[in-house]
Formats: sequence, structure tokens, C-alpha cells
Amino acid sequence: MGDPRLRKVSTMVDDFGSTRLKLLIDELWDLMEIYGGVGLAAPQVGISERIVVFGMESHPTYEELGAVEYTVLINPVVTPIGDERKVGWEGCLSVPGMRGLVPRYRRIEYRGCDIDGNPICRAVSDYHARIVQHECDHLDGILYPDRMTDLTQFGFEEEISSNLAEATVE
Ligand code: NI
Repeated sequence: MGDPRLRKVSTMVDDFGSTRLKLLIDELWDLMEIYGGVGLAAPQVGISERIVVFGMESHPTYEELGAVEYTVLINPVVTPIGDERKVGWEGCLSVPGMRGLVPRYRRIEYRGCDIDGNPICRAVSDYHARIVQHECDHLDGILYPDRMTDLTQFGFEEEISSNLAEATVE
């Protein structure tokens, strides 16, 4: 956070199936795994293009959240379904060591393309919806603290986890 590249609006991708795109996405998966994240967006590695990757077999901290299918989502469009919002704890590899309680739409539809340009369209809820909203925000230069409505619920991960008997996600 503080790097101006994280605040740019990213450009659309059009070279589906290219070696360049495959290599970039391989790098995103590698970095996501190395840093133990559940998602990563291209602007987080200094590439201002509309690409996110996300997914998990189970959450590293909150196993009860269940799996989210590993997905490459390019040129995504996110549309809320209904007005319901929920707060949940988020972190970000671009805001290391911090956690914040962030309101997000509970249900969304997202559309986009995979690495070869095949369309993706899903309606999802809860943690899956939260991840997608967080990652797609990166493509518009938005970081999760910008979405917070109560900055008293923003702090160092180790303080928050030691002060909450059971951190609430969703
Ligand atoms: Ni992030």
C-alpha cells in the first residue's frame, strides 16, 4: 500500500491464449501460494491488467468456510444480487500484517473470461463473493481499507487474533 500502481484503473486483456498471458498467470498462482493468500490480482505484482486469480481448498485460518474453486478470471464484471451486505475480516498481501472488518455484498454474480477467452458466469455468496469483490476492487485501484466503515476495526493481525476469542468471518 502506497505504491501508486495499486491505485490505477487496470486495462482490459485481449491476448487470450497467449504465452505472455499464461506466464503472467503462472506467476500470480506461484506468488499466491508463496504468500499463502486466497486470491491475487495482477496490479499487486505491478501489472495493470484486469486479471485476478483466487481459490482455496479450505481457508488457512477458518476451515469452516469451505472450498472455493480455483479460478482465473479475466476482464471481470461483478454485479450485486440484492442489497444485503455482511461484514467480515479481510487481509491483503498488499497491506501486510493487517486485518480489517469490511462490509461486502453477500450475494453477487460475476462474469468474465478464463485464460483462453471462454466465458465464466457464476452466482455466488458469502466468502466466495467476498474474495471476488476484494480481488476485483484491485483492478479499479481500490484497497479493502477504502471499503471499511469503522476504522476502529482495522489493526495488526496478531493483535486482532489475540484479542478476539474467535474471529468472525461472515
Ligand atoms: Ni488484496
